[in-house]
Amino acid sequence: MSFPEQKLSQVTRSMGVSFIREMLRATKGIEGMISLAGGLPSPDSFPKKQLAALFKEVVEKEGTDVLQYGASEGDDILKEQILRVEKEGAVSKEEILITDGSTNGIYFFARALINPGDVVICEGPSFNGTLVAIEACGAELDALPMDEEGLRVDLVRETIVSRQNAGHTVKFIYTIPEFQNPSGRTMSLARRRELIRVARELGVFILEDQPYRDLRFMGGRIDSLWNIARAEYGDDETVTICKSFSKILGPGLRLGFAVGPAGLIAAMAKWAQKVIVSPEGVVQRVVARFLERNMLEPHIERITGMYREKREIMISSLKDTMPPSIRWTEPEGGLFVWLTCPESFDTDALFHEAAKAGVAYIPGSKFYPSAVARKNEIRLNFSYAKPADLREGVARLAKILKR
Ligand SMILES: Cc1ncc(COP(=O)(O)O)c(C=O)c1O
Repeated sequence: MSFPEQKLSQVTRSMGVSFIREMLRATKGIEGMISLAGGLPSPDSFPKKQLAALFKEVVEKEGTDVLQYGASEGDDILKEQILRVEKEGAVSKEEILITDGSTNGIYFFARALINPGDVVICEGPSFNGTLVAIEACGAELDALPMDEEGLRVDLVRETIVSRQNAGHTVKFIYTIPEFQNPSGRTMSLARRRELIRVARELGVFILEDQPYRDLRFMGGRIDSLWNIARAEYGDDETVTICKSFSKILGPGLRLGFAVGPAGLIAAMAKWAQKVIVSPEGVVQRVVARFLERNMLEPHIERITGMYREKREIMISSLKDTMPPSIRWTEPEGGLFVWLTCPESFDTDALFHEAAKAGVAYIPGSKFYPSAVARKNEIRLNFSYAKPADLREGVARLAKILKR
């Protein structure tokens, strides 16, 4: 018997199902299907041997401590290691919250700040997981366009001013400045400075989502918004950063952390208390020991080398096979390439044709808030498929787009 839908809370009913999950499910396990759809890291990137040894050691030697209920704010030993290895500058433990992946940190941030009817500014396109969480908290999303330098900050200013003049509260700006999901774009240093200036001037927070920051294959590292705000303005309030071990060590660990103003971190920890009690004790300590033994840097070097090659294969396959009307981004890191087709294309509809031809992708429309309808874009992932499949998958897609 199916559960009566009308008995569910309004917010649950309004959430619907994740189209991306549905699409991934619809194309999973089909013989010969090449998936360029999900955002999965390569299984070859997981440091399985090192983690297996550490799990055994941690449970045997530290089990009395880590199998017990832990602090909602996270394990102090892990925080110390994060403080030691993080390149985002020195902070205190009170400014760090350990989370179950960054999804959790983003949700607690949104929960701690949003009142129903508040406005949140985001990039268009953006990571749909965050967009649905923000909408579920009752905020309205203004998705603003990007160009090659990232979010159009001139439009951010314009939008905030006009929203504020209309009596709305613009609570925060959500940005993924490095190798953005889904577009692969990186925000320039000039734009970062400008965004901080605008946010400070207009009294709006920034949520800086950085799951891909350490996956840089080429080009120079750019200061995080978080760093710029601290270094250039002594401002430790405007920016909160969420990071994740998902794309570095493995999403199955469900481990990430947020760094932000101590008062806001404490407010987010209140939600953590209610929703998760505490992050996983064993996982936190395993990762703490991984960092302590300096295993992270060589590991990141290995996986960025692997992803650099895969990125080259995808870009060269696109150059070899795509019709001239299709454009794409060439990211310096991360996991995704973004294709823009002529306006007349409907990549939602083409998804089914592509699936029949044995290749899966995510239609661009899935990365905009529910009110926006853009149908001529495609996200491709290059981290998961094997090199030969990347070439073949792009060739199959090119055939469909040429028709
Ligand atoms: C931009 C962005 N933020 C957050 C997440 C969530 O990552 P996790 O919860 O696994 O740390 C993802 C995952 O794909 C992402 O792409």
